Amino acid sequence: MMLQKMSQKKIFLVLLVICTISFLLTMEAFHLRCPTLHSLKPKHTNIVFLKTHKTASSTMQNILFRFAERNNLTMALPKLNCGHQFCYPQFFSSHFVHPHTLPPNMISSHMRFNKTALQCLMPNDTIYITILREPASMFESLFTYYSRHSGSFRRVPNSSLEAFLANPLHYYHPEEADSVYAHNTLTFDLGGNKDRSATDVTYAQTFAAEVEKVFSLVMISEYFDESLVLLRHLLSWDLDDIVYIKLNVRTESSKKSLSPGLPGKIRAWNSIDAYLYDYFNASLWVKLSALGLDCVAKEVYLLRQAQERLTKSCFGGQMPVPRSASEIKNKDLRPWQPSEKVGIIGYDLPLNISNAIKELCLKSIMPEVTYTQKLLQSQLLRHRRSLQNRTPQMSNIPQQTKRTTLPRHSQVHRNQPPPSNAQGPASTTKSKFTPNQGGGITK
Ligand SMILES: *[C@@H]1O[C@H](CO)[C@@H](O)[C@H](O)[C@H]1NC(C)=O
Ligand SMILES: *[C@@H]1O[C@H](CO)[C@@H](O)[C@H](O)[C@H]1NC(C)=O
Ligand SMILES: *[C@@H]1O[C@H](CO)[C@@H](O)[C@H](O)[C@H]1NC(C)=O
Ligand SMILES: *[C@@H]1O[C@H](CO)[C@@H](O)[C@H](O)[C@H]1NC(C)=O
Ligand SMILES: *[C@@H]1O[C@H](CO)[C@@H](O)[C@H](O)[C@H]1NC(C)=O
Ligand SMILES: *[C@@H]1O[C@H](CO)[C@@H](O)[C@H](O)[C@H]1NC(C)=O
Repeated sequence: MMLQKMSQKKIFLVLLVICTISFLLTMEAFHLRCPTLHSLKPKHTNIVFLKTHKTASSTMQNILFRFAERNNLTMALPKLNCGHQFCYPQFFSSHFVHPHTLPPNMISSHMRFNKTALQCLMPNDTIYITILREPASMFESLFTYYSRHSGSFRRVPNSSLEAFLANPLHYYHPEEADSVYAHNTLTFDLGGNKDRSATDVTYAQTFAAEVEKVFSLVMISEYFDESLVLLRHLLSWDLDDIVYIKLNVRTESSKKSLSPGLPGKIRAWNSIDAYLYDYFNASLWVKLSALGLDCVAKEVYLLRQAQERLTKSCFGGQMPVPRSASEIKNKDLRPWQPSEKVGIIGYDLPLNISNAIKELCLKSIMPEVTYTQKLLQSQLLRHRRSLQNRTPQMSNIPQQTKRTTLPRHSQVHRNQPPPSNAQGPASTTKSKFTPNQGGGITK
């Protein structure tokens, strides 16, 4: 009896010590001098996000789609015969944009970058953002994902990456449209020349400098959360605005680890991409250092906490079980499958999820193609309503003018009440996902 009491006391003391230490550590983390989590400046809303292939860009696009919906912004979307991309791999043209999604605040669907065309289309205070991924893991991902879609990869015996890299020019036919997935894909998406000789280092240098002039932030997939922190500061967004659930991830079984010599060969084959990556990874870290690595680490920590809370709220207190497309009951939530050999993971929502949070959860895990369609539908509806509202006063104004009279908010002002429409859950549940609201981080 005595003995039992003693050990209970000991356990209690040990717990007390652990709690105190972790409390102190947490307190210390919040007392660094860091920028506030809630900027007082209005949020910036005019954005071009150049979506690159296999770089976690779908997750970034999902963040932008949700932000646009929540704030009634206009997202330029592809017209129907372009699919869910802007007639990729053609150079972007404003003719590829659905006319009822004009004038836009944001644009984020796949395209081949054309600076002139975008500058004509977008407001003059638009911020340009893109994302790059480490070339070796990116190429492995492209090779697997497009193994059936790109002739360059289809011709390779046994779908062997080793075989391709042993003699790329044997399989790669630059004149084929689908060759874009097989050589310097990032450079191509950015509007550059994917087939420029690897010995032409000046080209890579000049191109990187051009990209740097246009894009205020080049995110890096390997440091996605850190990149998001920079994004949040650049745009004066809140932590809530960048919370996400990871999308479009392959099943473990369809990932291959690279044998020792391969990364070098991949970099040599994609030398312009490799140059861009090293260049912009270096500048990312310069920016992170300028913000203060401690502050960045702290924000990343808070972001991951908010993310875990969101994920748990959506999936009944647990982390979600990733499912293959065929197992997902809600067909809106089934991700696109590039081939029968590549399992893209998706999520199903539990049936008993509360209505207050359902919309936010659904949108956070909705695959790109479905979300693009839904966003287009809601913008078409809004467009039609705005026409109906305007018809009485404006019946003598030419069609062309009426089409572009949707309000364009260049900024979201913080003193406005939150939207009271279908995006309600995002605002009513807001405080649940932000630790330390009220800027606890500033002290
Ligand atoms: C880019 O867009 C501009 C303006 O629309 C156009 O004149 C130009 O030809 C385009 N560039 C390419 C390479 O297609
Ligand atoms: C941007 O456009 C607005 C109106 O659309 C105009 O008032 C402003 O002067 C322009 N700014 C620049 C830098 O061109
Ligand atoms: C393809 O794979 C099979 C079985 O792994 C092997 O026997 C064959 O030699 C491979 N063919 C080539 C061209 O690599
Ligand atoms: C990115 O740059 C940082 C800082 O220079 C470096 O430590 C890191 O290894 C680089 N990451 C990759 C994947 O190259
Ligand atoms: C939903 O059901 C699961 C198991 O069936 C349960 O663990 C979870 O707590 C339930 N969630 C709600 C919000 O009722
Ligand atoms: C969003 O748009 C709808 C429909 O035009 C409007 O009723 C609502 O007030 C708008 N909300 C905000 C925050 O602008």
